[in-house]
Amino acid sequence: MRSVDRDGGQLEMSQTDFYALAERNLPGAGLGGYSLPEDVRFIIKRGVGSRLQSVDDRWYIDYVGGAGANILGHAHPAVVEAVQQQVARGLHYFGTLNDVAVELSEKLHRIIPCAEKITFTTTGSEATFYAMRMARAFTGRNKILKFEGAYHGNHDYSAVSVFPSAPANYPVGSVDTGGVPDALPSTVLIAPYNELEVVENIVAENKDDLAAIIVEPVQRIIFPEDGFLQGLRRICDANDVLLIFDEVVTGFRVALGGAQEWLGITPDLASYGKIVGGGGPLGCVAGRADVIERANPKHKGSSDFAYVNGTLHGNPVAAAAGLSTIEVLEGPGFYDALHEKSRQLTTALQEVLDRHGLPAIAAGRRSLWQILFLRAEPHNQTDVMTSDQARMRELDLELLKRGIYVLPGVRRFVCAVNTDEDFDQTVGALDEACEVIKH
Ligand SMILES: Cc1ncc(COP(=O)(O)O)c(C=O)c1O
Repeated sequence: MRSVDRDGGQLEMSQTDFYALAERNLPGAGLGGYSLPEDVRFIIKRGVGSRLQSVDDRWYIDYVGGAGANILGHAHPAVVEAVQQQVARGLHYFGTLNDVAVELSEKLHRIIPCAEKITFTTTGSEATFYAMRMARAFTGRNKILKFEGAYHGNHDYSAVSVFPSAPANYPVGSVDTGGVPDALPSTVLIAPYNELEVVENIVAENKDDLAAIIVEPVQRIIFPEDGFLQGLRRICDANDVLLIFDEVVTGFRVALGGAQEWLGITPDLASYGKIVGGGGPLGCVAGRADVIERANPKHKGSSDFAYVNGTLHGNPVAAAAGLSTIEVLEGPGFYDALHEKSRQLTTALQEVLDRHGLPAIAAGRRSLWQILFLRAEPHNQTDVMTSDQARMRELDLELLKRGIYVLPGVRRFVCAVNTDEDFDQTVGALDEACEVIKH
């Protein structure tokens, strides 16, 4: 691997050299969220289809999938071509619309059930942040209800009870990070996922202050039980509270029109990231025209104006990546094939776990999956918390050692270009990993 030193000379760099620089420059020698142990960590050089190559030329089957963004794997030819064409016309403009972003907005309007209007952002975090802001501006109320264990991004309003160590004293949550202003957590109410009655009571007690309920329709690897999301819709309607779906992961993943299409429930607002920008820096909030209209700059100065703006909003390269990705997703049978692939993988993984007599499940549906040390699919975050997380981590690290790229304890994805060979190799790796951790 070659790199350029500060004086412009060429250097040969090994993975160890890269880590020496990373240790010096980056906290945890990482990109923020994850820091893998030294014996399994690696530095990515490139992605090809369903695989990643490290700078020391090891190959990994990539189930992290860009945190869900890479539904087509790496360097899909249609996406590469669209991005190259756009790059040649400019990486970035600002202040005035670009043709690709408008084209993408029309595509989203046609695909996403709730999308009467759309406003672009750069990331999924911004999309949930702005959805909450628009909900507050529209309703004139301060509070947002979120679910224990739900992740809505990196901003302060999301950083409550994402990683609790014990169940919350609902609706009071626990703050996950330092640096959150003392006054903020009282505006974020916490409820357990899949527990309608608790939600109903919290809403009844807070309805005069409550702007919205935000929910991941599939919360991490926890799927909604029958009636749960329908119940949220009903509670929101009955109390004049907005329902926000965080579709940053589920959007274009569980169906072209996301969870709202799959489950037949239309929220007032929905937040997107990841696939909508084809893995590039783009997100959006879609939803009811009267709510999204709060972001219209003509309302500046009024108390129900919701300021939405960012240097990279509607970035044309990311919009080109998103458009070309969505065009592939629109192809006939795309989702049936993807879901079937995933079903085959989880079935094969479950057989291995059972053969080794491990009390674990290959949980998942559609193209989301994860191995959990539980006997049945989790009902909510309490189940995840009480599962054997140390053993799950041990197993995931053994998979990593065998060239299966998963992040310990994090939900993972099948992509459209995963092959039978990938799955055979994954099943073989799991077999060996189970042998190692059986004790
Ligand atoms: C459900 C959900 N919401 C929001 C986000 C934040 O998106 P981003 O990392 O693009 O800011 C994520 C990221 O993983 C997510 O999974």
